[in-house]
Amino acid sequence: MSSGFTLWFTGLSGAGKTTISSALAPILMERQLRVEVLDGDVIRDNLSTRLGFSKEDRDENVRRIGWLCELLTRNGIATLAAAISPYREARFEVRQRVGAAREGSFVEVFCDAPLDVLKDRDPKGLYKRALAGEIKHFTGVDDPYERPRDPDVHLDTAGTSIEHCVGQVLAALEERDLIPKT
Ligand code: ADX
Repeated sequence: MSSGFTLWFTGLSGAGKTTISSALAPILMERQLRVEVLDGDVIRDNLSTRLGFSKEDRDENVRRIGWLCELLTRNGIATLAAAISPYREARFEVRQRVGAAREGSFVEVFCDAPLDVLKDRDPKGLYKRALAGEIKHFTGVDDPYERPRDPDVHLDTAGTSIEHCVGQVLAALEERDLIPKT
């Protein structure tokens, strides 16, 4: 059995967390890894149904996803978590917990794109609604996002292609001996 790890995608809504994790999953499966994707939107429809977007609720959401990551990582699964996870301390807590399950197995991937680009793209129309005041406490509009200071992988999701970003993550996993080099 291969050893598990957690790829933790953090970033603003629309920054590419889901896109890049979904593009990576089949590539990791082809490499004979057992893979699970934990996507923020899906988690909120199932595990975190009653949680909102206050700091407390977001931290609780992140803690729940982190706990799942810990279990899955411990059991040899390549776990891809994609949640805004706006608060540094909550992300750090998950790093500690997953890292305790297996040293070096937590890899923070920052999907970084300028807010202006995201407001322009806005495929779900959420920024438009947030800017119109229809959604309150929207991350990046009237709610904070604490940028990672020293992410393991820093992706420029506005300036580079999905393929390039996927390649960057694969390279980081190979470098850390979390997946075999091709
Ligand atoms: S987190 O802050 O708790 O990590 P999470 O990734 O689970 O957030 O959920 C974010 C998703 O919820 C967004 O992609 C968007 O579809 C939706 N959403 C609804 N309200 C908000 C809000 N106020 N801020 C951010 N995202 C929101």
